Amino acid sequence: MSPDSVLVRWLPVSAIAEADWPVLSALLPEDEQARAQRFHFRRDWESYTVAHALLRGTLTRLAAAAGHPVAPPDWRFSIGAHGKPEPILPEGVPPFRVNLSHTRGLAAVAVALDREVGVDVEWLDRTNLTIDLADRFFAPAECAQLVGLAPEAEKDALFAFWTLKEAYIKAVGMGLALPLGAFAYTLDPLSIAFDDRIQDDPDSWYFQRLRPTQGHVLGLALRHEAPERAMLDAAPAGLAALLRLAG
Ligand SMILES: CC(C)(COP(=O)(O)OP(=O)(O)OC[C@H]1O[C@@H](n2cnc3c(N)ncnc32)[C@H](O)[C@@H]1OP(=O)(O)O)[C@@H](O)C(=O)NCCC(=O)NCCS
Repeated sequence: MSPDSVLVRWLPVSAIAEADWPVLSALLPEDEQARAQRFHFRRDWESYTVAHALLRGTLTRLAAAAGHPVAPPDWRFSIGAHGKPEPILPEGVPPFRVNLSHTRGLAAVAVALDREVGVDVEWLDRTNLTIDLADRFFAPAECAQLVGLAPEAEKDALFAFWTLKEAYIKAVGMGLALPLGAFAYTLDPLSIAFDDRIQDDPDSWYFQRLRPTQGHVLGLALRHEAPERAMLDAAPAGLAALLRLAG
């Protein structure tokens, strides 16, 4: 990876065959496997397992490319004040920073080198993400951009704002401790503005909207002092290569 790049990989749950599940699960350490087992619904177990297998597998492949063998279950993470996990880096491993997201049917991970990164994926058929939520979660300037849009454009903008807002609060690690109305996006061009409750520089962020599948959208936020230099490497994850990591 170059210092300017941000790597994004995603994996749809539908790509995974029944026989692959135990193999993917074996990429997780025992405590994460146990956490996954506690989900009530099978679909939550699946998306959690895919997301964490993808994160661990991606880190293992990147570390191996830099000459450091680390088995997927051996990665350890520290947890920030508001819950953001970051890898604890074995000696010599490049300064990877990560974020992951899972939603119905899809998991995604983002990796950067020594930069804050956040990713969010959403399932477009979720029914509780409606215009009524905009007033509650979005900034007034974002709500204003939704007014008068045709239904398809409105849905597109709604999901874009949502995933991008999540991506930012996840990148800075604050989660919902950050007032969601205190920052506002425009979508074209893609930019952010902060009110005086957030001390941050709008010109030091790189954002992306992606459509990993027909049924899912993805928002990405990367802190970069020269966003025009940021290099996006976004692709579906190779499932076969991931499964091979289980040995
Ligand atoms: C917890 C939160 C960081 C993300 O939650 P989410 O969107 O429901 O879940 P995602 O799948 O995208 O991300 C979860 C992952 O983010 C990571 N994460 C947890 N806390 C985090 C934090 N403070 N910052 C960044 N990443 C965090 C973890 O890896 C977690 O995975 P795990 O639970 O499998 O261990 C937080 O933003 C939240 O609670 N959001 C609720 C949704 C909401 O109201 N959004 C308003 C948007 S306008």
